[in-house]
Formats: sequence, C-alpha cells, structure tokens
Amino acid sequence: MMNSFISWIGGKKLLRKKIVETFPQKETFNRYIEVFGGAGWVLFSAERHAKMEVYNDMNGELVNLFRCTKYHPEALQRELEFILVSREQFFDAKGQMETRGLTDIQRAARFYILIKESFGTDLHSFAVRAKNMESAVNYILAVSKRLNTVVIENQDFARILKTYDKKDALFYLDPPYYKTERYYQCKFMKEDHVRLREELGTINGKFLLSYNDCEYIRELYSGYDIVEVERMNNMSQGEEKPRYKELLIKNYI
Ligand SMILES: C[S@@+](CC[C@H](N)C(=O)[O-])C[C@H]1O[C@@H](n2cnc3c(N)ncnc32)[C@H](O)[C@@H]1O
Repeated sequence: MMNSFISWIGGKKLLRKKIVETFPQKETFNRYIEVFGGAGWVLFSAERHAKMEVYNDMNGELVNLFRCTKYHPEALQRELEFILVSREQFFDAKGQMETRGLTDIQRAARFYILIKESFGTDLHSFAVRAKNMESAVNYILAVSKRLNTVVIENQDFARILKTYDKKDALFYLDPPYYKTERYYQCKFMKEDHVRLREELGTINGKFLLSYNDCEYIRELYSGYDIVEVERMNNMSQGEEKPRYKELLIKNYI
C-alpha cells in the first residue's frame, strides 16, 4: 500500500480502505479500471488490483503529469531540481502553463508545482507552508514503478466504459460529486450525471461508484446496492470538520 504523490480535490485518501474492502472478491475480476482517476488514491492503495489496470482522467494536464511520471521520472525530477516553495516561483509556473512551447516534461513539472503549493489544491492561490519538497520529488521514482504496468488514458468516462467493458472488469468510478462540480477544471453537468447512470446501466462488468449522499443520487440509483459510509469533510476550509455521509453504489452483492 502506498500513498498517491499528489493531493486532489475530492481525493479518496481517507476512504480508500473502505472502498477497497467493498470491492468484489478478487477472483471475480481480472481488469481494474479507475474511470475518474484524479490523484489515484484507490489505485495506489494496492500493490496491484488486477492483472490489467487502467487509470483515466479527462484532465489533460493531470494525465500528462501521470504519463511523465510513468515514462520520464528522472527527467521530471531534474526539471524539479531547483524547486523552491516560493510565491514568485508558484506564479511563474502558473503563468508559464498558459504559454506555448513547453515540452510535456516542463508542463508536468509546472503542474506539479501548482498542485503541491496551492491552497487546498485549487491550483490558483499560493499556500505558504513548510513542505519537504526533496522527499516529495524523490517519491516520483516509486510512483513511476507502480505505474509501470498501468495503462493511462485521457478520455471521457463513456469512452472508457465502452473500451474496457467485459464480464470480468471492475470499474471504480469517483465522478465530481453532485453540486461540487465547480471545483474541477473539467465541467461536469447534471446531464453528465444522468449520462453516467445510463452508461452504467448497460455494462456487463462490475462497478463501484462513489457519491455524496443526496436524495437526487439515491433516486437516480434506486434499485442498486447502496452502502452508506461516513467521512470527514475535507472540502470545508474552517477549523470545524463536520462528518459527511458518502454513498458507495454497486451492481454486485
Ligand atoms: C473526485 S475526482 C477523483 C478523485 C480520485 N478518486 C482521487 O482519489 O484522487 C473526479 C475526477 O474526474 C475527472 N473528470 C471530470 N469529468 C470527467 C469525464 N467526463 N470523464 C472522466 N473524468 C472526468 C476530474 O478531472 C477529476 O479529476
């Protein structure tokens, strides 16, 4: 079991154990597909979930960071060699992301800086805090090894469901939560929630889906097996961390 190398809004750091425990018996699937990959907390939480593993996200910058970490870890580390935790460098990185002419590795390094140094991983505001960047950058090698056999995709979820569906597939899906979609760069609208429900209704494989607990989602998935779990609210920014209910929805017992 390892940690992801980044944090991400809605990341499943605190719930990953419970999620993996809710997976079907290991013998019943031989491909594991993380459809809304984000930081990949669930993916990284096991040495290997299945013979074939797929990580997907629609965010191209994030997928570029995953690909560079997988294929060019040392070049990425070199690009990050002179990283400082400084406001100036943070805003330089942010500005450079908007220009043309960077290589994939240069882009990945800048995106990594925005993730590591922004407030609550919002990628926009610089967060002043002591961080051990050296050990973070060293960790990229271990992550690269873990990704060695993982297929990395950059598609809309519907495409991934079609491409990888098979009776012995397990899809783990962690879409932007209903009514929190605005936190993400990739727009996810009400019709996408409906589209997801429709696509999931047609697959032959197994799925486990995470959502926030709300009436709309409960209704949308009525008829499926719904497990309630509790978590702390890591989106609240105050001192107080209220407990939130989350749903794990599945099409297997
Ligand atoms: C809640 S986050 C996933 C967090 C992840 N489970 C983790 O532990 O870090 C949702 C992700 O879905 C991605 N996304 C948004 N729209 C998508 C789409 N149509 N298809 C695939 N991924 C999408 C976002 O870029 C975001 O990274």
